[in-house]
Amino acid sequence: PTGVKAAVNRFAFDAVPVSTSDSISVPAGYKAEVVVRWADAMWSDSVAFDQDTRGTAKTQARTFGDNTDGMEVFMHEGRTLLTINNEYTNRSIIWGNRADAKPENDDDIEKGLLAHGVTVVEIGHDGDRWGVVIDSPFNRRITPNTEMILTGPAAGHALVKTDADPAGITTLGTWNNCGSGKTPWGTYLACEENFNGYFSAEDENHEVSAELKRYGVSASDWGYSWAKIDDRFDVAKNPNEPNRVGYVVEIDPRDANSTPKKRTALGRFKHENAECVVNNDGRLVIYMGDDERGEFLYRYVSDGVYAAGIDTDALMENGTIFAAKFHDTGAGEWLALTPETTGMTQAEICVHTRIAASKVGATTMDRPEWVTANPNSSELYCALTNNKNRGLKTNKGGDETPVGGPNPREKNKYGQIVRWTPMNDDHTSAEFKWDLYVLAGNPKVHSDDKAGSENVNLGNMFNSPDGLAFDSTGQLWIQTDGKYSNEGDFEGQGNNQMLAGDPVTGEIRRFLVGPREAEVTGLCWSGDRKTMFVGIQHPGERGNSNWPDGGNTVPRSAIIAVTRDDGGLVG
Ligand code: FEO
Ligand code: CA
Ligand code: CA
Ligand code: CA
Repeated sequence: PTGVKAAVNRFAFDAVPVSTSDSISVPAGYKAEVVVRWADAMWSDSVAFDQDTRGTAKTQARTFGDNTDGMEVFMHEGRTLLTINNEYTNRSIIWGNRADAKPENDDDIEKGLLAHGVTVVEIGHDGDRWGVVIDSPFNRRITPNTEMILTGPAAGHALVKTDADPAGITTLGTWNNCGSGKTPWGTYLACEENFNGYFSAEDENHEVSAELKRYGVSASDWGYSWAKIDDRFDVAKNPNEPNRVGYVVEIDPRDANSTPKKRTALGRFKHENAECVVNNDGRLVIYMGDDERGEFLYRYVSDGVYAAGIDTDALMENGTIFAAKFHDTGAGEWLALTPETTGMTQAEICVHTRIAASKVGATTMDRPEWVTANPNSSELYCALTNNKNRGLKTNKGGDETPVGGPNPREKNKYGQIVRWTPMNDDHTSAEFKWDLYVLAGNPKVHSDDKAGSENVNLGNMFNSPDGLAFDSTGQLWIQTDGKYSNEGDFEGQGNNQMLAGDPVTGEIRRFLVGPREAEVTGLCWSGDRKTMFVGIQHPGERGNSNWPDGGNTVPRSAIIAVTRDDGGLVG
């Protein structure tokens, strides 16, 4: 890729070998402990998890959500407020591993619904370990039923009006929140990703509009059956309801009564995360991926500038969305999505952002996942997780996806990380320069470009980079959500993992391996940087894990705390 060579070893840990065990591996001198699991108590009236029934809608409403993803720590008056996305739920796990993974009754459906959303939970350290502060006034479950408002150009537009909300302003809930973001003023950004999989129609032959098709909405949901208990999710009855999801949602974790705000100005797509940067001139710039094969990488630039005490709502409501175009030369440009460039109104651009980006000729990407900004430079990194369809003309309703630029491999199984630097270190510039930080691969099985770039070797190989985050020292952390078969193309790669990368030398070293059939996703630090919080999502998604409690217990997504035995900093 960029002529990277291993140089000075900057990593403060020994490499962890691959693992296929049902446990967490961390380097010698480190330990990992569970902080909070799916369905753990948050209030004194929470009911303890029942291994047999796996809970009810009522118990889920008052306990921690399922499948943790993006998360951020907010320090508030000396308290540690952890805010976490509960992206989705494994139906086979919450409904008792029944082979058909189908709900038996309405309570099952509602339990699944309430396992989604966002959880705010205060955590504390008792001198021994981290745990939930039961009954903290900050503890909160935000679910697909929580009232929130639409803001920005699409708010009040005909496309977002429904019978229940003729004004097109007040909407219920958020679901399938994947990655996260943190604004300079200390609010949380939850990013709505695969929102489409929850809509259905009684008539399985019901045809949705071309615009909804572009977002994957159809007459069939992914098995959650929400339309059976709430007409909102019946796309024949409420065809505009899917236009009210697919946004970035701003949440104030310091006020459990605050109303979350959907920021339509940032566009509607399958949002992965939202990486906020304050530009040299004070404007807010937010980098965002759309995680779908052949979709795009985006940037939002606010009209106004950020300064302490200003109206931050205006910064999140008035701005321009751009989509990235990459040239094979290593140059790149940001294409503005405006009424002039797209022939669409500003509200239409904010609702049908994918269609607007297609009109300007943005580059189709290999599933853009997290974007993260290097604190020591103006560089940005984005994980392009994989794309089995690259080079094939099978992209549903989207554009063709030729091989080239930062997407150099056909039927890309392993993924890559692209990075770019804005021209003159100006995040609002129309131009940037890019290269690949790493091309993941398997040098044990392949010797062609599927072996990966030269900073990939038998000791650090991985597939499907997804979560990315820089720590305060400028070390890049890479989390994977890939194939864990440990066979064929993935032989020798074991379970999903987390690695550290040196942005200067390109060197990559494995730090952690997750349990079976899990993804490692979500990363943040305690206020003193002595604890790293890491999310473990969907352990045992195919029925082969009992993590974290072992024996015959139900596998449960959880957040772990990673610390050093000597009490040193971990980022
Ligand atoms: Fe929820 Fe793109 O991962
Ligand atoms: Ca992800
Ligand atoms: Ca992923
Ligand atoms: Ca996931």
